[in-house]
Amino acid sequence: MRIAMFSTKPYDRRSFEAAGRAHDILYLEPRLAPETATLAAGAGAVCVFVNDDVSAPVLQALHAAGTRLILLRCAGFNNVDLKEAERLGMAVARVPAYSPHAVAEFTIGLLISLVRGIHRAYQRTRDGNFALEGLLGFDLHGRTAGVIGTGRIGALVARALAAGFGCRVLAYDIHRDPGLEALGVTYTDPRTIAAESDIITLHCPLTPETHHVIRAETLALAKPGLILVNTSRGGLIDAEAAIEALKTGRLGGLAIDVYEQEADVFFEDLSNEILTDDLLARLLTFPNVLVTGHQAFFTRDALQAIAEVTLGNATRAEQGLPLGASEVKAPRAG
Ligand code: NAI
Repeated sequence: MRIAMFSTKPYDRRSFEAAGRAHDILYLEPRLAPETATLAAGAGAVCVFVNDDVSAPVLQALHAAGTRLILLRCAGFNNVDLKEAERLGMAVARVPAYSPHAVAEFTIGLLISLVRGIHRAYQRTRDGNFALEGLLGFDLHGRTAGVIGTGRIGALVARALAAGFGCRVLAYDIHRDPGLEALGVTYTDPRTIAAESDIITLHCPLTPETHHVIRAETLALAKPGLILVNTSRGGLIDAEAAIEALKTGRLGGLAIDVYEQEADVFFEDLSNEILTDDLLARLLTFPNVLVTGHQAFFTRDALQAIAEVTLGNATRAEQGLPLGASEVKAPRAG
């Protein structure tokens, strides 16, 4: 099958070429958007990543040019209009779990860097500054950590915090994980998490219900100095409210691998350009804000799994076989 792959970086090409050549892949650098959809003309499938635009008009343009399959080379699918895909008879497949460990381990890395000022120490010592003033952290042991979303990634993070670091872990999810409860993780409501946590880490998908799950009202409930980590999706946090809370000290630190308006910025080297996103620019001025550019997934293991599962999805769809756990369907009403 001909697959038009959008937002291709050299590392994507290397991992897909290593995973096999069963399909004819057209590697395209541009992001999928209304203006670029015609690049996929004649391709039975398009392969997209987190910031590609797979909205209704784009799906209609792809469908008109012969595309019948959307292959997401990621887990999240908030950028796809699933109802429109269903209406057009287009199948949507994702990679449900390429390496939850990659994201969970990165989350813990961000948390410790932020709490202990490792990101600042790295810069300071290179400048010959070995002073400790301004780097005072706190022990994770005994602190209360709130985990919102305890699926594949959130469960690993909750486990590491509870069993590894000895945190008291509070969790919120629409489904409970008895394995975590057995470890002492306590499920509760989001307000209790907001009010009692020293640390909150976000691992639920972005949906209409979870959009801005962290906003001014949530932050108003928080203990002063709350540490917030987000490696899930940028839209879970209202960045303007986070900036206000950072200014007052209500938020004591923010580590984000994702940002609501990241599509125009992340995955690109903009070091010779002017940053026009004023919210992101403001966030980058805080010493207690750590921003990474959607790299939590970025391990050799994850890239290999992404390529293998995506190509497997393409093969199954081409042969008319069920897509199983990879299939993404529009939610049923009611
Ligand atoms: P998952 O599907 O295994 O877990 C998501 C959990 O969120 C489930 O337990 C689900 O019940 C829960 N959930 C759904 N709606 C909820 C709600 N309204 N409130 C609370 N909980 C809710 O997904 P997984 O693999 O753990 O990934 C989590 C998120 O991480 C993904 O949705 C994706 O957006 C993000 N992600 C980020 C990556 C990165 O590189 N930064 C890489 C991979 C995933």
